[in-house]
Amino acid sequence: MLLATTTKQENASMRPTNMIMLASQNAGKIREYQSLFNKYPEYKLVTVGEITSNASALAQAENGKTYYENAFEKGQLAHLAGKLPTISDDSGLEVDALGGRPGVLSDRYASIEPGYSKSESNVRKLLEELRGVPKDKRTARFVCTLVFFMEGVVVSATGTVEGSILETPRGPNGFGYDPIFLVKDTDLSMAEMALEQKNELSHRARALAALMQQIKEKNLKLVRP
Ligand code: IMP
Repeated sequence: MLLATTTKQENASMRPTNMIMLASQNAGKIREYQSLFNKYPEYKLVTVGEITSNASALAQAENGKTYYENAFEKGQLAHLAGKLPTISDDSGLEVDALGGRPGVLSDRYASIEPGYSKSESNVRKLLEELRGVPKDKRTARFVCTLVFFMEGVVVSATGTVEGSILETPRGPNGFGYDPIFLVKDTDLSMAEMALEQKNELSHRARALAALMQQIKEKNLKLVRP
């Protein structure tokens, strides 16, 4: 009997893809990545919600103590379900006066107050905790860790942006804590920056640039099953 066999090389060359699946359901993050990927026209960004069923279950997959553990867990689950090369993001805000809190718990920092969104409740709680803390002691940073998965390959990168916490929210753009984050060496809150401006300097932009650099250096060719 003749068996049809292919070498690994032939097999891989038959299934290239330009698609990268983002393991996130967060509308703010998705908007930013869609714009960030304009810099990488060789790739087509799709979201886990477009590719898989039950993607909302991913929101529960955040049981780690670090950004890396959370990004790894979410990304691994999404990659298992959607099979495509996958990027997973975990991020947060670290406030020095609070010993780095809310950090990995940034999304689930406050209980949602009646009449307020989750982001508004988080912002209100943070401003309350920092009440009376002087300007020079309100330093903080956004941190983003990305993990890329493709058939057993795991690559990760982290980006940060420094700033401080304002006393009142400013600006209509962005999401989450953007209105109270004054970007270092500027007079603007993150929410006063246009998307393109935020994407020049954000923790997410820096993490993605570092990740793409590694993918390039390792000469990784994207493949799907
Ligand atoms: P997670 O990465 O899904 O755990 O969520 C991170 C949380 O950190 C978000 O829900 C926001 O509250 C906050 N966060 C992360 N990145 C940003 C940002 O760029 N702007 C504002 N808030 C952010």
